[in-house]
Amino acid sequence: MTARHAYDVIIIGSGAAGLATALGLAHGARVAVLSKDSLRVSSTSWAQGGIAAVLDAEDDLEAHIQDTLEAGAGMCHQDAVRFVVERGPDAIRWLVDHGVHFDTEDGPDGQPRFHLTQEGGHSHRRILHAADATGIAVSGSLEERVRATPSIEVFEHYVAIDVVVREKLGLPGSGCAGVYALNRRSGGVEVFQAPFVVLASGGASRVYLYTSNPDGSTGDGIAMAWRAGCRVANMEFNQFHPTCLFHPKAKSFLVSEALRGEGGLLRLPDGERFMSRFHPRAELAPRDVVARAIDFEMKRLGADCVFLDVTHLGEDRLQAHFPNILARCAEFGIDIRAEPIPVVPAAHYTCGGVVTGSNGRTDVPGLYAVGECSFTGLHGANRMASNSLLECVVVAREASADILRLLPQAEAQPEAPAWDESQVTDSDEDVVISHNWDELRHFMWDYVGIVRTDKRLARAQHRIELLRREIHEYYANYKVSNDLIELRNLALVAELIIQSALNRRESRGLHYTLDYPQTLPTPRDTVLTPSPLRLDVQASRRWRLD
Ligand code: FAD
Ligand code: SIN
Repeated sequence: MTARHAYDVIIIGSGAAGLATALGLAHGARVAVLSKDSLRVSSTSWAQGGIAAVLDAEDDLEAHIQDTLEAGAGMCHQDAVRFVVERGPDAIRWLVDHGVHFDTEDGPDGQPRFHLTQEGGHSHRRILHAADATGIAVSGSLEERVRATPSIEVFEHYVAIDVVVREKLGLPGSGCAGVYALNRRSGGVEVFQAPFVVLASGGASRVYLYTSNPDGSTGDGIAMAWRAGCRVANMEFNQFHPTCLFHPKAKSFLVSEALRGEGGLLRLPDGERFMSRFHPRAELAPRDVVARAIDFEMKRLGADCVFLDVTHLGEDRLQAHFPNILARCAEFGIDIRAEPIPVVPAAHYTCGGVVTGSNGRTDVPGLYAVGECSFTGLHGANRMASNSLLECVVVAREASADILRLLPQAEAQPEAPAWDESQVTDSDEDVVISHNWDELRHFMWDYVGIVRTDKRLARAQHRIELLRREIHEYYANYKVSNDLIELRNLALVAELIIQSALNRRESRGLHYTLDYPQTLPTPRDTVLTPSPLRLDVQASRRWRLD
């Protein structure tokens, strides 16, 4: 029998976006937060550099706006940028009120003030941070508050599968009415009913072989929203972080851009600096430029990596501001005080996502998307460093306020059909899943990576069509598991990325193609629209809408 739960709001994901939304709703709604792992497992927890906001008297909002627009290569929506940047200082106060401690220093008047760092694309020091582990400071404090709030219930190890859309299931009314989720501990699928669902499930960088992200960044929210009938935009803009540790056991551990902000230098294997050949801001050029320059130099020289040299920064500064990077590199036998760090680019951030307004509303009534899974127009063709956590908090606060306003008028909840497993069996060949995972991530890295061509994209498209057919068949015949759910989502997201990349016949920001090296005069978003929803009153898991 399918277990059922009923709430006012279901939030999928426990990163900054999910937890901040939950806390924004705490005094007016009954909330369930679903997280596919334990609460603390998220990109948010791994964030290093910090969170950007204008808090220095010598900085100003217009400069933050201008830097964001420039990094975004003409594609940012100006209204979205202004909206988020202007609310930055208030978002920081909100985080501080919720227990987040950012590093401080003594100001000229002897009073403590925030210690600010700098990162690529920023013309001013404006990054608040907690040493080089800002993410855990944010997620740790928010988690503590969430766990202490009686109106918020946490469901760890629950992986959301699909949104319940009334039209799709022939239920009365319109819009979203909850989600189906796999309880990973029991193996059963449960129904969570609510008039509001917030997707806060993070990005999709696991679609690539090498990524700085945790394992759960499989684009689930983007895929669920697409299947629910939402548009997605700009999926071709996949950000590769220029400096991830190159070590066979390091799993692309991130080496923060803040190290370059403090004066770290990029060098070729022979010690030569090279970034000034590519951009006047050299090591602090926008991220797409730095990643592409490293990729170019590695291919030109046949080198496995380049090097980030921070030896001149001094032990005290490294200990004070980068204790985790220092310690992690030491675990791999690299003493960053004395030797340069071997680094390579890796997939880091999904700039595109579910089309939303600045309040997180999607195309489906009652369904919201917040954080990395969303597309608000803030990041354009290349997200500027430390603007992501900012967007999570600003939009989460708007979304929760919007939901609280709408909640009193929410339609009565029809009963969603039970999850039907009568026609599926236990998988007898899990190797198919792991094989398809590997194949997908390999060809996305090889054909849809930092430098693209039409031919490579066409190859990727051909492969993804075959893979998706195979995964469909598997999904229709076997019981769901976490790996299968993630693979199904990753394959769909890969298809959206490839399609978007094929549609863009220019090079701009993170999308660089040898076939169209020029930038077109007029920037245009790539908006993909799913085919109209068809009624499927069969068992819910036989949906064929993806
Ligand atoms: P996440 O923090 O990724 O959270 C997603 C949550 O959704 C997770 O809890 C996950 O388990 C859950 N989830 C996913 N799918 C499902 C499902 N189907 N069912 C249930 N739960 C699900 N940005 C900055 O601004 N500053 C930085 O310094 C910075 N440093 C970074 C360093 C690293 C190593 C990485 C990887 C990213 C960094 N970023 C940084 C980017 C930033 O951390 C992320 O973009 C941001 O944290 C995303 O927050 P989120 O809440 O949208 O998603
Ligand atoms: C970093 O610390 O380099 C990551 C910052 C970001 O992704 O915004």
